Amino acid sequence: MSVWAVLAAAGSGERLGADRPKAFARLGDEPLLAESLRRLDASDWVEFIVVAAPPGWEEPVILLAEELGCSKVSAAVVGGETRGESVARALAEVPEDAAVVLVHDAARPLLEDDVIERVLTALNEGWDGAVPGLPVADTVKRVEGDRVVETLRRDELRAVQTPQAFVASVLREAYSAGDVRAATDCSSLVEARGGRVKVVEGDPRLIKITDGADLERVAALL
Ligand code: CTP
Ligand code: MG
Repeated sequence: MSVWAVLAAAGSGERLGADRPKAFARLGDEPLLAESLRRLDASDWVEFIVVAAPPGWEEPVILLAEELGCSKVSAAVVGGETRGESVARALAEVPEDAAVVLVHDAARPLLEDDVIERVLTALNEGWDGAVPGLPVADTVKRVEGDRVVETLRRDELRAVQTPQAFVASVLREAYSAGDVRAATDCSSLVEARGGRVKVVEGDPRLIKITDGADLERVAALL
C-alpha cells in the first residue's frame, strides 16, 4: 500500500499575525512546519510527502526539508487561496498509482505515529476514509444570527482533526466533483459524494495553532 502524505502549509496565518506565513513562524528553535515534516518523514507508514507551500515559499520549504534530512519530500507546490485549493494542487502531484493519501495540516505540529496508524487501519478495514475525532466538552448550539435554533446532542458530536486518510481514488473523485473552495476539511468532500468515513480516536496533543497563545501552549509540550 503506497501512502502519500499531503502537508497543507500554505496558509498566511492571519490570526497568528506573525511577519511571515504561519508555517514559518517560530516554534521553539525551528519553523512550525519542521515539526510535522520531520514526524511525517520519520513515519514508517509514509512513503512520499508533497507540501503545499505559501506563495513564494516553495524554495524555503525544499531547503528546510534538506536541512532536516527529510528524504521523502517529493515536491513543494504553491498553495491556493483556500485550504481546499492548496490540497487540490498538492493532490495533482500525487501519482495515479498511489493507493492512499494522508492529508495533514502543518498547523498541527504534534503528530504521533499512533494516530497515523489508526486512520490507516480503518482503510484496511474497508472504509473510504478515516478522520481522528475527539469528544466535544462544550454544549454546541446551532444559531441563526444571535438566535439559538437548536441544541445538538453532544454524544453525537466529534471535533475532527488531521491527519485524515483516504483511498486515493476516492479523494481525487471528491476533489474533482466537490466545492473545493468552501471545504474546511477533506472528509466533508468525500462525505458529500457518499463516501464512508470512519471516525477514530483523535489525539489531544494535535492542537491546532491558530493564535500566539496556541503557539506557546504547543511549545511547552515539545
Ligand atoms: N492552509 C493552506 N492553504 C490555504 C489556507 C490554509 O494550505 N490557503 C493550511 C494552513 O497552512 C494550515 C491548515 O490549512 O496548516 C489550516 O488552516 P488555518 O489554521 O486556518 O491556517 P491559516 O489559514 O494559515 O490561518 P488564518 O486562517 O489565521 O489565516
Ligand atoms: Mg485559515
